[in-house]
Amino acid sequence: MENLTSQKKIRAFAPATVANVGCGFDVLGFAIHELGDYVTASVSETPGVRITSITGDGGRLPLEAEKNTAGLAAQSLLKEAGKTDLGVELTIEKNMPLGSGLGSSAASSVASVVAVNRLIGDPFSKSELLPFSVEGELAASGTAHADNVAAALFGGFILVKTHNPPDVLSLQTPEKLHCTIIHPKIEIQTKNSRKILRKEVPLQKAVTQWANVGSLVVGLYTDDYDLIGRSLHDEIIEPVRSMLIPGFKEMKAAALKAGALGCSISGSGPSLFALSTSEFLAREIGKKMGTVLDEVDLEFDVHVSKVNTVGAAVVSES
Ligand code: HSE
Repeated sequence: MENLTSQKKIRAFAPATVANVGCGFDVLGFAIHELGDYVTASVSETPGVRITSITGDGGRLPLEAEKNTAGLAAQSLLKEAGKTDLGVELTIEKNMPLGSGLGSSAASSVASVVAVNRLIGDPFSKSELLPFSVEGELAASGTAHADNVAAALFGGFILVKTHNPPDVLSLQTPEKLHCTIIHPKIEIQTKNSRKILRKEVPLQKAVTQWANVGSLVVGLYTDDYDLIGRSLHDEIIEPVRSMLIPGFKEMKAAALKAGALGCSISGSGPSLFALSTSEFLAREIGKKMGTVLDEVDLEFDVHVSKVNTVGAAVVSES
């Protein structure tokens, strides 16, 4: 029996995510398809969490569990489960760029807790896994915020009411919604792009911002694409962070001209996201945004996806 357990391997996937969704800094997010991380967990004889390999990161992420978001999240889960004596080995396959604004650290920590939870018999529900992943995110960005991890964990659109205690609302996803992501190949660390934000917000800007968050949520629930577009404005964060992204203004203008409902920075950037109502439009928008970066000779990737409403899941058990 013990032998069987020690041979068990659980592989889990957690998707890339778009946090903030324009107006909802630290509270709104949604998951996308294909991009994301895989974490495989297995039992080992040496107590504690060990990361045995990381691929797809160009050798840049730490293998030490206490310095790695996936390792930290796994440690936090095992501590809460009273299983700190258990030996757990993790392998991480990164299938998305680092420092891109697509929730790379969240994808690793969420895939890690989903895999480790299954390895020890699923003692925690999905909602209960959230705080463990937030621990990992805290290490990566210096502040605990749950918009990426909640979107990666639950899928679909989410609203983080509070992360501590965890209170996450899953929102409705309109069927026709498509997302274009353009990832200019520069890196922005969340830690740094949070440092440049002002700590105080003028009242009038706050009023506009919470009106937009409210109307975006209504738009999602009523499939009102026009209202979604009219709500995708960020008066507070985008004006500051966009200065770090070459061609931001031109890319956004190109996306809107090509028929996007709205466009803003994905998470802490440098990726931008644009929402539209068909795959055809989403691809056209990507092409037009790409011409802006071609002109400034900056390499980029474009990714088109519907909203991933499944979120993180175990993909194989052996
Ligand atoms: N809400 C976070 C931010 C997402 O914008 O800093 C990035 O992790």
